[in-house]
Amino acid sequence: MSDATERRPGEEAIVLPDAYDAGLYFIGHIRTPWVERSDCPKNGLQTDAVCTVMVDETYAAGLQNVAGASHLIVLYWMDRAARDLVRQQPRHAPGNRGTFSLRSPARPNPIALSVVELLQVDGRSLSVRGLDCLDGTPLLDIKPYFASTDSRADATVDRAGNP
Ligand SMILES: C[S@@+](CC[C@H](N)C(=O)[O-])C[C@H]1O[C@@H](n2cnc3c(N)ncnc32)[C@H](O)[C@@H]1O
Repeated sequence: MSDATERRPGEEAIVLPDAYDAGLYFIGHIRTPWVERSDCPKNGLQTDAVCTVMVDETYAAGLQNVAGASHLIVLYWMDRAARDLVRQQPRHAPGNRGTFSLRSPARPNPIALSVVELLQVDGRSLSVRGLDCLDGTPLLDIKPYFASTDSRADATVDRAGNP
């Protein structure tokens, strides 16, 4: 996983457009045990750690009924990731790969997602299991996970990959 400035052989960076096409509101932040990227799990299934999704007061009413979900989709902003890489060299795989074939945090819009288990809702604080981000990572959105429509039991990824 690259940090925001590191470049490995085979990686390709672009010049990003001068202006953004849209704006975002950070709706809160995420508290996790990890302060260094190297400490983070690579995905939320690699850890049992309980993390806290903190929603700002402005958006508190949006949490109504959320406690009814066993699992949530959490979207967050990888604020310490490079944004200009279109080809990346994964640390533990041969050959470079297109950014949009990867779950790397480095991407033009560094939006990450995890499906998390919802353990408890306490006011604007959600205790969850299944996150992989640094402490303080900005929160973008929360959605219910519907196994009936979100799960694809037959999905595959050919890691050898086509060009
Ligand atoms: C491989 S990404 C997967 C993210 C998400 N589960 C997804 O699939 O979109 C997870 C890694 O991103 C890195 N990371 C975590 N929080 C970050 C942040 N706030 N900014 C930049 N990189 C971060 C860590 O190296 C972590 O292991």
